[in-house]
Amino acid sequence: MSVVEKAIRKLQESQVGGAAAPPAGAAPAPPNTAGGSVPARSHGEKIVIERGTLRSAGLLPPEADMPMLGRQYRKIKQPLIARAVGRGVPRAPKGYLVMIASAMTGEGKTFTAVNLALSMALEKDVKVLLVDADVAKPNLSQVLGLGKAPGLLDVLRQPELDVESLIHPTDLPTLAVLPAGTGAHEATELLASARMGQLTEILGENDMRRIVVFDSAPLLQTTESTALARVVGEVVVVVRAESTPQPVLLDALKVLEGHNSVSLVLNQSVRTADAAYYYYGYGQERPSGGESA
Ligand SMILES: Nc1ncnc2c1ncn2[C@@H]1O[C@H](COP(=O)(O)OP(=O)(O)OP(=O)(O)O)[C@@H](O)[C@H]1O
Ligand SMILES: [Mg+2]
Repeated sequence: MSVVEKAIRKLQESQVGGAAAPPAGAAPAPPNTAGGSVPARSHGEKIVIERGTLRSAGLLPPEADMPMLGRQYRKIKQPLIARAVGRGVPRAPKGYLVMIASAMTGEGKTFTAVNLALSMALEKDVKVLLVDADVAKPNLSQVLGLGKAPGLLDVLRQPELDVESLIHPTDLPTLAVLPAGTGAHEATELLASARMGQLTEILGENDMRRIVVFDSAPLLQTTESTALARVVGEVVVVVRAESTPQPVLLDALKVLEGHNSVSLVLNQSVRTADAAYYYYGYGQERPSGGESA
């Protein structure tokens, strides 16, 4: 059995359960200001996270499924947060930079990025920055009403811009958003540039409690995601269980070969006669051959 088959089997076997977590959309706890880190300066216009709008755009599940989704995302976020901020384990190199990837389009990257960010924003000791790095198809920015706002691309193109000035705080004190920005030409070059590396360092240095969640473009259909994967510490690959063919997943993992931390999230939506059912599993595949959950 291949490493990927083992990882997939592990995902399928893992039961998401445990104590009930607050739903992904519940009000977050106030930020913990005891850390003494430099506060991030956000000057972008404050936006309101409208759950109705997110739901209409297919980025949140129906209200009735929120508690279950909250539990599932709790399971997914915990190891990521632990490695990002060094909670109970050593802080992982660039672990605060989390890219949500997938092989193909429509596998649930944006859905996962939004729900993971909302779930992480419930934590007391972290601040979440959701970045729309799907610069060619900035669905997330558009849904949040930031389709034309300057963002990632602009700060990469114009190093004199202060990235904090383009970050939009939200009505959730622990969640902020950086839109994709304007002018997607040369997107790959910009995301692969030395400036991108500097930018990710600045984001970490400005606030040690910050976790950056990148929504991204499909790995096998664009080149900018390969560039993005090189600068992040964590890549979470969304696998649509009943539709992603295994050879396609293998090709996507090949693109990520050599990366220190690649995790798989199984995104399977099974509709039965009377209920919608969301299943997420979490596994991890390390190129060294080891696997851990
Ligand atoms: N767990 C889920 N439950 C229900 N619907 C889902 C789930 N995950 C994704 N979807 C739906 O699948 C569609 C595609 O999801 P999404 O936009 O997140 O994919 P994507 O990988 O970001 O696609 P693209 O590469 O085109 O940006 C959306 O309509 C979304 O509502
Ligand atoms: Mg998307």
